[in-house]
Amino acid sequence: MQTHQYDVVIVGAGGAGMRAALESSTRVRTAVISKLFPTRSHTGAAQGGMCAALANVEEDNWEWHTFDTVKGGDYLVDQDAAEVMAKEAIDAVLDLEKMGLPFNRTPEGRIDQRRFGGHTRNHGEAAVRRSCYAADRTGHMILQTLYQQCVKNDVEFFNEFYVLDLLVDHDLATGDVPDGEEVNATGVVAYELATGEIHVFQAKAVVFATGGAGKIYKTTSNAHTLTGDGMALAYRRGIPLEDMEFFQFHPTGLAGLGILLSEAARGEGGILRNSDGERFMERYAPTIKDLAPRDIVARSMANEVREGRGAGPNKDYVLLDLTHLEPAHIDAKLPDITEFARTYLGIEPYTEPVPVYPTAHYAMGGIPTNIEGEVLRNATDVIKGLYAAGEVACVSVHGSNRLGTNSLLDINVFGKRAGKAAAAYAAAAPFVELPPNPATRVEAELETIRTRPDGERVADIRRALQETMDANAQVFRTSESLTQALADIKGLRKRYEAVSVQDKTRTFNTDLLEAVELGFLLDIAETVVVGALNREESRGGHFREDFPDRDDSRFMQHTMAYRRPVAAGAAGTVSGAGAFARAETFDGYQVVLGAKPVTVTRYQPMERKY
Ligand code: FUM
Repeated sequence: MQTHQYDVVIVGAGGAGMRAALESSTRVRTAVISKLFPTRSHTGAAQGGMCAALANVEEDNWEWHTFDTVKGGDYLVDQDAAEVMAKEAIDAVLDLEKMGLPFNRTPEGRIDQRRFGGHTRNHGEAAVRRSCYAADRTGHMILQTLYQQCVKNDVEFFNEFYVLDLLVDHDLATGDVPDGEEVNATGVVAYELATGEIHVFQAKAVVFATGGAGKIYKTTSNAHTLTGDGMALAYRRGIPLEDMEFFQFHPTGLAGLGILLSEAARGEGGILRNSDGERFMERYAPTIKDLAPRDIVARSMANEVREGRGAGPNKDYVLLDLTHLEPAHIDAKLPDITEFARTYLGIEPYTEPVPVYPTAHYAMGGIPTNIEGEVLRNATDVIKGLYAAGEVACVSVHGSNRLGTNSLLDINVFGKRAGKAAAAYAAAAPFVELPPNPATRVEAELETIRTRPDGERVADIRRALQETMDANAQVFRTSESLTQALADIKGLRKRYEAVSVQDKTRTFNTDLLEAVELGFLLDIAETVVVGALNREESRGGHFREDFPDRDDSRFMQHTMAYRRPVAAGAAGTVSGAGAFARAETFDGYQVVLGAKPVTVTRYQPMERKY
């Protein structure tokens, strides 16, 4: 075992992690730990853009952007956070421009901007051009730009190191730590893929930036590595996860595959059609049509299919029509995604419409934070020295449905804030002592799985989990479907206790790591399903067919899901009052729900129409 000491340790080297590192590493000794080589992080898969009210091509302002974000999130957005994000968006884009990001340009040489779903002029009048982009490779360009800056600034990377535990000086998972008591993060434990060696990193501040958890679903735009690691580690240490029931289904995944076809295709003029050739979004969102927010478009597509107007031999997808666009325009603005259609479906988008269907894309929920990125352990108390940013976090700028292009923005604005805040904290704080034998838990878990002679296969349990999530916790949900998903997850947890791997070696053992990641996926899936069962309303990305309306009187609050021992008291949770009084018992622990108020500043909830 090796030990290291840094002022700040950042876990994850996608956009949020590297943006945090650029702030932190110039101020204090900083390490970035990543399970991937940084430029393989999933930020690189983001396509269509990063929004900011630059008003480069038409009138716009950050207040309209804030409003669109709040309305897009169906009023579950914390409005103070949305204001910060929309205001700081402008500098966030200009920062990247100065770092050298090759944005597309207008003929006058300004950063060009395109339309995206739910972004409007003057509170919903018409779609506005707010997304700054680099063809359909914006995330790729951001990732490369940030990595180059990190290299230039001598940021220290530990690549292909898997963080498998978070060290905190109080065991919150017991449920015995009273509200208000000081709790400190002290470091992390990581596993080095190349050697199998364990590394303990002591730190004054830890920043989690590990991304999302799309692999709980079978049909997803997410890479294989998106297994919810940071969320699950926090949850296992007794930190709540916020609003996990809200999962975004991006409307245009390649049918049958889930590979992302950017919303930019519709921003550039693409049209969704059903089997009759009808532009069906005119019925569902008469003002902004195909550029309605994703929750609405995804549901409308699924509804067309359910009502028999799906296309193809099985009538199970709709069509994205780009055939009216000039090939030169498609090549200039959408080169990658049109190539995906050719490569994976054999479709020529110049002349044929592309089969598409919603694909699991983004977790609106995550580790709760305030606007400085500090992690909350209940509705009010922060954990000292612990920060989170990006998809792993829930600063609640996305509420119950994220607008396209607000994710690349979120990672830049809140990555920067978290990095700055962590560095400032570490510059003044002492190291807090590590717990005795900090690596024991990780070593025991790895050795148990690695040496188990025979048992359940990782791929079998993972497939069963993804299938039940696709079938029962997708765009449309009911009490019945979610109850089925919950029963399936409980059964899979039992099977996971017997999981074993075929590779028994200690070096480059990805088989072993996949088994550990499967444990994370099961943790995340249980919080999604328990939260979804409890939320007896429809809001944003969470649509309950048995409760089709939004119910502000009962559910205008954030869900907080805590893992606690079965007999634990409610210490350290916000007691689950009213609609949030739910505890779901699993084998040996329970998921206890609590609530957290939504911050409303300027915009009172209204009916959401587009
Ligand atoms: O459609 C897209 O290009 C995805 C963007 C996003 O998720 O923000």
